[in-house]
This record gives sequence, structure tokens and C-alpha cells, in this order.
Amino acid sequence: MTGLDPAALGARADAMLTALAAISAEPGRLTRLYLTPEHRRAADLVGAWMRGAGLAVQEDALATVRGRLEAASGTRRTLVIGSHIDTVIDAGRFDGALGVVAGIVAVEELRRRAVALPFAVEVCAFGDEEGVRFPTTLLGSSAIAGILDPADLDRMDADGISVRAALAGYGCDIAGIAAARVAPADAVAYLEVHIEQGPVLEREGLALGVVTAIAGATRAVVTVTGEAGHAGTVPMALRRDALAAASELVLAVERIGRAGSADELVATVGRMAVRPGAVNVVAGAVELSLDVRAASDAPRRAAMAAIHAAADEIADRRGVAVDIAVTHDRDTAACTPAVVDALSGAVASLQLPPRRLMSGAGHDGQAMAMLTGIGMIFVRCRGGVSHNPAEYAAQGDIGLAVAALVRAVEGLAEEERERR
Ligand code: GLV
Ligand code: MN
Ligand code: MN
Repeated sequence: MTGLDPAALGARADAMLTALAAISAEPGRLTRLYLTPEHRRAADLVGAWMRGAGLAVQEDALATVRGRLEAASGTRRTLVIGSHIDTVIDAGRFDGALGVVAGIVAVEELRRRAVALPFAVEVCAFGDEEGVRFPTTLLGSSAIAGILDPADLDRMDADGISVRAALAGYGCDIAGIAAARVAPADAVAYLEVHIEQGPVLEREGLALGVVTAIAGATRAVVTVTGEAGHAGTVPMALRRDALAAASELVLAVERIGRAGSADELVATVGRMAVRPGAVNVVAGAVELSLDVRAASDAPRRAAMAAIHAAADEIADRRGVAVDIAVTHDRDTAACTPAVVDALSGAVASLQLPPRRLMSGAGHDGQAMAMLTGIGMIFVRCRGGVSHNPAEYAAQGDIGLAVAALVRAVEGLAEEERERR
């Protein structure tokens, strides 16, 4: 297992990240949402890189770009490596893109080393991990895992376009959803490289970490309905102001989140839309987003119950209606011990301590865990900053992550040969 050059791997990956970061809906900042023209351009670029790496490329029914390197032996057993090419609004350039690029560069390297693999490797560029355009997330990985809820296809973006219509406009055929699935018996494991998006590795002076579990998450669309009225004539005591009620709810969400911080509970309202939204009109309705996460499932569920209770109390006292529609609810996904061990061995083989840590952020592994064993390598990022254009991971660390991924594939290949 000699001959790995992390510096060269990092330089190659970083150049690809720079190219992907230039594909955005907006000049001067990075925004690339699911099934948009920018997604198309990024998918085309990723597909071209995959072909260049010797992979057979197809796009599946959910627009996931899938590059496949067949096994030396022709078996259907498949190791999936992936991450996402959608971004948040005004994103950094590493979240998601890093894992896709790492997968491609790792396969290039495996081919350069002429490793005869006992399984196929499929590199996936998922299109909907962030869940920013539609009130749903992990659609691509859910299809591969065979757990896609068809009701998610009817969810609408802010312009009233459904996932179903957007997929058709993008050129995807949802008749192919079943065929997108990897059969459980064929799945070897799912691996993903991702920036940590938190401060632990940097604080400890470590380039890489190995993920033990991905925190569960609940997301909801909350609608507060009051009564619109004239800002000059409706007396204060007679108002049913949806924005004032929603504001109380936002603070209740923050209070509930803070109270559970020992369980690494976090609760966020990140978006609010006020209707009709005019200076001289008492707000008639407000729609807000809700995102609740914790290291384990019980505190998250307790927080959701507390938020429901707070919403009921505010609704009663203020004479408004509050509806909480859950759009995403996924339990904490443990990474698979055998895969965690394989990744730890790969990191240790680079003379780096295989620091194990939890992921507070969501990842496609949460869906893939319903199909197969999962594991992730985290890469140190500056200041723990993510979902922010200041997001930064050093080229040297990226190179080490790609090298660890190559070693992990080689390690899993060894285990697969022994299994036979
Ligand atoms: C995805 O980045 C998420 O955790 O929201
Ligand atoms: Mn991500
Ligand atoms: Mn993200």
C-alpha cells in the first residue's frame, strides 16, 4: 500500500472544487439548488470528470449522477461513495462538493494503482441533501436505499413547482425510481468524505476524524394564521397579529433548544415569510421553518413535544391558529462498527490518530443506513464554519482525506476477498 501522494491528491481535488464553486445561480456567491440550471451544469461537469476517471456514468430518476467502476470479477456487489452537489443559499464551496470530488479522485487513484477490486464502486453526486428548495431532503439517497416516500414528489417549492414537475423539467423519468435502488444484497457499504462543519478537529489539531453517528433531525413548516387588518385602525387589543405570535414562537423554540443543550439539542427557525407583508397591514399569516436536532432521539422528540405545547399556548392566548406540518423526521443513524473500523484503520495507516466524533449535521448516510453499513471521514474546517461562504478546508487535509478513502476502499476490498 505504498505510493500514495496526499499532496497531489489534494491539489487535484482542490482544483475540481474551485471549478464547481464557479457554478452558481448568483454572481458573487454560491447558491446551487436541486433541479435548477446550476444543478444541471454541476452535474454535467461531475459526469465529465467521472468519465475521465474511467467510470460509466448515468443519471438516475432523482437526478443523482452515478459513475460506476465495475468489479474485476463482474460481481454486482457495490461499494457506494457519495455526497451532494446542491448547496445552501450563499454557501461555502466544500459542503457536499468535497465528498463528490474525493470519491472521483479516489477512484482515479485506485485505477492508477491498478487495484483489482472484488466489488464495483459507484460514486454518487446527490442533488438534494440540503433540502433548501423543497421542504424535503435526501431524495436521491432515499431512492438508492429504496425508501423514497412517493408523497415527497408532491411537495412544492416557493414558486408552487412540485418535485415531480421539477424532475420532469430536468429530464428525469420518475418511472425509473424503482430501478434506482441498489439491492440490499448487492450493497457492500456507503462511504462519504465531508467537512466536519464544527470545531472539534481544529481544536485538537487533527486533520481527519471518523464519524460514529449522524444526529437525527426533525424539520417542519409552521403556519401561524391570524387576521390581516389596517395598521391604523385595528386597536391593539383586538388584533390577531400572526407576526407577533410567530415571533413569540421563535423565542419559545430558542428557549426550548437552550434548555436541552446537555443533549446537544439545537432548535432553529431559519426562515419566515410574512403575508401579506406590508408596512401598513397587520400580518395575517406567517410561515416559518423549524429544524430540531439532537445527539439522540429522545431529546429531539421531547423538544418537538415542548414546541407543540408552546404553539398551543400561544395560539390560545392570542387567538391565532398554529399548524406544524412535519416534512422530515429521521432518527439518529449510527455508523456501522465494521465500517468505522475500516475507516479508522485507513486514517491510522496515514500515521494520523483516528479521532472518533459525532456528526451534528445531516448527511445522505442517514438514508443510506437503511440500505447498508455506513461510515464517514470528516475533514477539519477552519473555525468550524459551514453554511457560510467563509467555509474553508486546507488542500493538505483534503489530500489526506482522499488518501484515507483510497486506503479504506483497499481495506474493504481485502475484507470482501476474505468473505468469499
Ligand atoms: C445539511 O447540511 C443539514 O444538516 O442541514
Ligand atoms: Mn453536506
Ligand atoms: Mn449542508
